[in-house]
Amino acid sequence: MGQGMRLQGISHVLAIASGKGGVGKTTVSVNLALALAQAGARAGLFDADLYGPNIPWMLGVRRKQAAPGEVPVARTRRDPYITPLERFGLKVMSVGFVVGDNDAVMPDPIFAGHIIRQTLQDVRWGELDYLLLDFPPGSGEPQRTLLSTIHIDGAVIVTTPQDLALMDASRSLGMFRQAGVPILGVVENMSYLICPHCGERIELFHRSPRPWAVEGDGVAALGRIPMDIAVSRAVNAEHPLVQAHSGSPAATAFREIAAAIAGKLVDDQRPRV
Ligand SMILES: Nc1ncnc2c1ncn2[C@@H]1O[C@H](COP(=O)(O)OP(=O)(O)OP(=O)(O)O)[C@@H](O)[C@H]1O
Ligand SMILES: [Mg+2]
Repeated sequence: MGQGMRLQGISHVLAIASGKGGVGKTTVSVNLALALAQAGARAGLFDADLYGPNIPWMLGVRRKQAAPGEVPVARTRRDPYITPLERFGLKVMSVGFVVGDNDAVMPDPIFAGHIIRQTLQDVRWGELDYLLLDFPPGSGEPQRTLLSTIHIDGAVIVTTPQDLALMDASRSLGMFRQAGVPILGVVENMSYLICPHCGERIELFHRSPRPWAVEGDGVAALGRIPMDIAVSRAVNAEHPLVQAHSGSPAATAFREIAAAIAGKLVDDQRPRV
């Protein structure tokens, strides 16, 4: 289990992470959170990507004007004070709301980690079953600071087929293992295509013949998300896939992965014999 401080009222804090950028971490975070909410869970989504916060953009939420008294000038108490935004039944907050979309000056990496942690702790999340953290890509200092200060119940690693073979040795897995955070498994995104005419599944990338991701011998495979124009179009149109195209193969894959994650977390809580 992670070593940091527990966020009150939240049953499971999950990190959605990747070794490199652009593999679909934010897309996966948004759609998994929606799939969990659709299954009846109370879910929240926190954009911890200080360097490229785009959850607000994907969900069509904007920074709102702070109500008088909402932003304390000199804080004497440590109670959370930021009301999260609500969208599609999710509670949403982005570190981008604090830092600003166009700020050219970036804080140094350790300080960045503390800004993310503080923002996370300042939100009035209330009672949640799951809080998904969209991590910055890679295994740099903000991620490490976050892992050492916030208790995280599990990590979901997003990858693409091209990088799958390198996964076992990857730094991001090492970072979570070192911090004592259980790795729930890997989501393979942009994994294959479904032919729009005949429905056939088309493999686009060479797959390693070695049996990868056998449980007990590495990291579990949580599922594969097809490459689908609906995934990017839905997100750009601010209607995430699981809501807008709920019958599509990709939406089905997201729901199955969400169920697998929920199942693993329940298993983890059973007393061990
Ligand atoms: N399964 C998919 N099918 C089609 N397009 C996808 C899929 N997954 C992601 N995309 C598209 O790929 C791009 C990158 O996705 P996304 O922003 O989620 O990646 P990221 O890992 O969060 O990137 P960053 O590291 O920049 O934060 C986006 O334009 C997104 O719409
Ligand atoms: Mg992202």
